Amino acid sequence: MSDNQALRDPTFRGKFVCDALVWPSISLHMLKKLTGKETGDGSRHVYRPSDVRKLKLAQYEIDESSIETKRPPVVNCRMAKGGTGKTTVAANLATAFAFMGYKTLMIDGDPQASLTNMMGIDASSEDITHIGHLMEESVSNKGPADISRATRTVFPDGMLDIIPADITLTNADGWLMNQMQRETVFDRMLTGNADFFSRYEVIVVDSAPGTSLLSMNIMVATHTQLAVCWLDRENLKALPILLGNVDEINSAYPNHASDVEIVANGYSAIYKQSKEALEVLVARYPHQLNENVIQQYSGFHRQQALPGDESKGAVVEQDPNGPGAKAMMDLAKSLLGRYRITLAGFDESIPSTRGN
Ligand SMILES: Nc1ncnc2c1ncn2[C@@H]1O[C@H](COP(=O)(O)OP(=O)(O)OP(=O)(O)O)[C@@H](O)[C@H]1O
Ligand SMILES: [Mg+2]
Repeated sequence: MSDNQALRDPTFRGKFVCDALVWPSISLHMLKKLTGKETGDGSRHVYRPSDVRKLKLAQYEIDESSIETKRPPVVNCRMAKGGTGKTTVAANLATAFAFMGYKTLMIDGDPQASLTNMMGIDASSEDITHIGHLMEESVSNKGPADISRATRTVFPDGMLDIIPADITLTNADGWLMNQMQRETVFDRMLTGNADFFSRYEVIVVDSAPGTSLLSMNIMVATHTQLAVCWLDRENLKALPILLGNVDEINSAYPNHASDVEIVANGYSAIYKQSKEALEVLVARYPHQLNENVIQQYSGFHRQQALPGDESKGAVVEQDPNGPGAKAMMDLAKSLLGRYRITLAGFDESIPSTRGN
């Protein structure tokens, strides 16, 4: 977590925590007791992501200080094609993990900086240290990379941070081209700086479309690519390209064994093409398709904040009780087990109902 000022400090009502965030279920009375909010006018209590964390740690009887630190899993939102919902899913998943009490780091891996802008950082005018800079520092033999300089606080208490991007991240590919073992620089940076990264429990990356050395680097650092697939014919054609990239990685690095988890995005029952594309995904990729299908919700369009806009952040933050947020929370819960994301070492994942 960085020591710069938090961009936002979201709070929610106890009922939201009880209904949506805590598993297994908990009463409002227990919630107040466990978070020390029993006194005063209970109706006015609000909760922060760090309160949810505190509550869960108490519920599971975990002493955080005794936890062994480890490199966190990387959820890489990826697709060979543009405009499929990668940024939307990355922002909402990361926010959902933070709301569930997980310490979360977002990395903007796209020079277009859509995730950076959505979080309320103006990539066009602010001074940005991005992941390309950190990768360069990490192989330059000048000592450990200064990652905290790059990291910006989105929610306080280490619950949600971001390493932002700007257009100069485009230069990363030219530089990577001349590196030894050029596909593994990002992976080695995560391992070499485990002291820093182990303060988080999950890293969510928003990757650029297309295949580049930077996107391959991010793929090498995760055991499961989260393929965000818009439900149309073009995406059905693009998906095998991503699967081909995974095969290339697996044959180049036999110990890696990378796989793909497919998230079907933008479902609408009124569009024939959308239904047909979902049927094809179910038939072709029964073991890789996530059981949660994200419907088309107009709310997602409103996330694309422009510099100066009042409303910033993902739908999960802006409209936590809406259907879009619920779908993203369900997706986040389903990924806990798949990515082995643990809360201070505790595995609270709901067993998947899918038979693979
Ligand atoms: N489930 C959805 N329902 C409605 N609109 C959506 C949904 N998912 C994404 N969108 C919208 O589709 C557009 C593209 O989404 P997004 O920017 O997340 O895609 P992307 O894959 O990151 O694009 P790029 O390849 O340009 O980075 C945005 O306007 C977004 O609000
Ligand atoms: Mg994007």
